[in-house]
Amino acid sequence: MKKIIEVENLDVRFLQPQGELRALRGVDLTIQAGEILCVVGESGCGKSVLCKTIAGLLCKEGVIHSGAIRYEGVDLLACSKQESRTIRKKAFAVV
Ligand SMILES: Nc1ncnc2c1ncn2[C@@H]1O[C@H](COP(=O)(O)OP(=O)(O)O)[C@@H](O)[C@H]1O
Ligand SMILES: [Mg+2]
Repeated sequence: MKKIIEVENLDVRFLQPQGELRALRGVDLTIQAGEILCVVGESGCGKSVLCKTIAGLLCKEGVIHSGAIRYEGVDLLACSKQESRTIRKKAFAVV
C-alpha cells in the first residue's frame, strides 16, 4: 500500500530558561493510504507536539533537533519552505 506520511526518528525540544525539555525522542510512524492512525498516551507525552510538528504549527520555542517528516516521499523538513507550505496547505488539516 502507498505510504502517505512517514515520520522518522523525530526529535523535538523546547528551549526554556530552566533548560531544554525533550518533548519527542526518536518518534517513528507510517500512515498508509486509507489508514487512520490514533495516537494514544498520557497527558504530556507529546501527542499534540507530534501533530503540530507534522502540520508545521510548532511554536517558535520548539526546535526540531533531527528527523524527517515525509509526505508522499517529500521530506517537509528538507525541502524549501515554499514547497512544504504548498503541500501542507493542500494535504493537512487540524481540528
Ligand atoms: N510551548 C511549549 N513550551 C514548552 N514546553 C512545551 C510546550 N508545548 C508542549 N510542551 C511540553 O512538551 C511535552 C509534550 O506536550 P504535549 O504534546 O502538549 O502533550 P500531550 O500528549 O498531552 O498532547 C510536555 O512536557 C509539555 O509540557
Ligand atoms: Mg494534547
